[in-house]
Amino acid sequence: MTKSRRRARRTPGGRPGLRRLDDGRRARGSATREAARRAPRARDEAFFRYLVAGMRNGVLAFTRDGRLALINDEAYRIFDIAPRRDDLGRPVAELLQQHPEVVRVLHSVFDLHLLPNRAELRLRPSGKVIGYTLGLVRDDAGEVIGAAMFFKDLTRVEQLEERERLRDRLAAVGEMAAAIAHEVKNPLAGIEVMAGLLRRKIADAPDVQTVLTDIITEAKMANAIVQEVLEFVRPIRLQVERTSVGEAVQSAIQLTETKARRGDITVDARLPASLPLIHGDRYQLTQLFTNLLTNAYEAMEGRGRITISAAGVSIDDGADGREAVLVEVADQGPGMSAELAERVFKPFFTTKSQGSGLGLAIVRKIVDAHDGSIDLQTAPGHGTTIRVTLPVTALDEGH
Ligand SMILES: Nc1ncnc2c1ncn2[C@@H]1O[C@H](COP(=O)(O)OP(=O)(O)O)[C@@H](O)[C@H]1O
Ligand SMILES: [Mg+2]
Repeated sequence: MTKSRRRARRTPGGRPGLRRLDDGRRARGSATREAARRAPRARDEAFFRYLVAGMRNGVLAFTRDGRLALINDEAYRIFDIAPRRDDLGRPVAELLQQHPEVVRVLHSVFDLHLLPNRAELRLRPSGKVIGYTLGLVRDDAGEVIGAAMFFKDLTRVEQLEERERLRDRLAAVGEMAAAIAHEVKNPLAGIEVMAGLLRRKIADAPDVQTVLTDIITEAKMANAIVQEVLEFVRPIRLQVERTSVGEAVQSAIQLTETKARRGDITVDARLPASLPLIHGDRYQLTQLFTNLLTNAYEAMEGRGRITISAAGVSIDDGADGREAVLVEVADQGPGMSAELAERVFKPFFTTKSQGSGLGLAIVRKIVDAHDGSIDLQTAPGHGTTIRVTLPVTALDEGH
C-alpha cells in the first residue's frame, strides 16, 4: 500500500488512475472524497495479498505472455526455489527451470478446453507429488488475461495413506495367520502324540518305526513354524529388566547348538564382561539372537565359523550420544545379493523349502520394541554380518 502511494507521487506518468488525482483539474474537496472512496479498495488489495500469503496451498499466477504475476511462500517451498525480489514479471519458464513438467502444464493452460480439476504430478528433482487445479483469470470484459495454478504438496498424504493401507493389509494377514496357526496347532500335537504311541506299540517292526520317526520329525517341524507364526503375530509385550546382552547371546548359542544340525561349525563368541546392562526383555533378546544364529547355521550348510561379538558403543541420534550395545553376527555363508538383502525382513519371505520366512521379521519386531536398530552387510560370496544396536535405555523411558 505504502509502496504504491509513494510510486504514484514519484512517477506522475505511472498509473492512469492515480495520476488523474494529481493533475489539478479536480477541486481539493473532491480529491479527498476520491481518496476516501479509494481507501476500501486499497484495504481490499492488502486483504487479498494477506489471503494469498496465508494460504496453505501453493498459488502461482501468470499473465498471458507467461510472466509471473503472483506467487506465495508455500509455492516457493513446494518448488524448492529461493524467492527473489524481482520474481514478479519474470517468465515462469525461467523461474521454474528446475520443473519443466510444471512449465509444460502451465503453458498448455490457454489451449485446454477443459481445465483439470484435480490433477497430480510428480516433481522430478525432489520426488514430491503435488495435486493441482488450474484456473483462468479473466478481466471485466471476459477476456482471458492470465491463469493461476493452485497446488498442494501431497507427498506426506500419499505416504500416510500407503502406510495405512499396508498396516490394514498386515493386520488382516496377521489375523488370518494367527487363526490358522491356532487351528493347526492342536491337530499337529495330536499327530505327534499318536505317532509316538504307535511307535511304542509296534516296537518289533523297525521299518514302520523309521516311518513313524519321520512323521514325528515332520510334525515337530510344522509345529516350529506354527510357533513362529504365533510369535510373529502376537503383539509384543516386553518384560523389561536390567538384562545382560552377553547372557542372552550365550543362551542363544546353546539353544541353537542343540537345535541346529550338527556339522563342522565353530561359534566364536567375543563377549566382554564389561558390557553395560540394558533395559530389555531377556527372553525376547535370546529369541532374537537364536533367530540370527539359526540363519547363520543354515546359511553355512554345516561348515565354517560364526563370529558373534558385542561391544559398548555410543549412538549418535542427533541429541547427546546414547549408550548402547552393538552385537554383530558374522557368518561365512554364501552372502546375499542386494535385491535379496532388501527383502529378508519381510514377513513370510524365505528362500528355504522348509522356511517360514518369519525369523528376521521377528528379529526386526524385537529390535523395534527395544528401540534399537538393525542393518546387514552382505555380498554374494562374502558371508553376511548382521549388526544389532540396542540402546541401554529406550527413549520413552527417559534417562
Ligand atoms: N545369514 C544369512 N545368510 C544368507 N542368507 C540369509 C541369512 N539370513 C537370512 N537369509 C535369507 O533371508 C531369508 C529370510 O530369513 P528368515 O526371515 O529367518 O526366514 P527363514 O529362515 O525361515 O527363511 C532366508 O530365507 C535367506 O534367504
Ligand atoms: Mg530363519
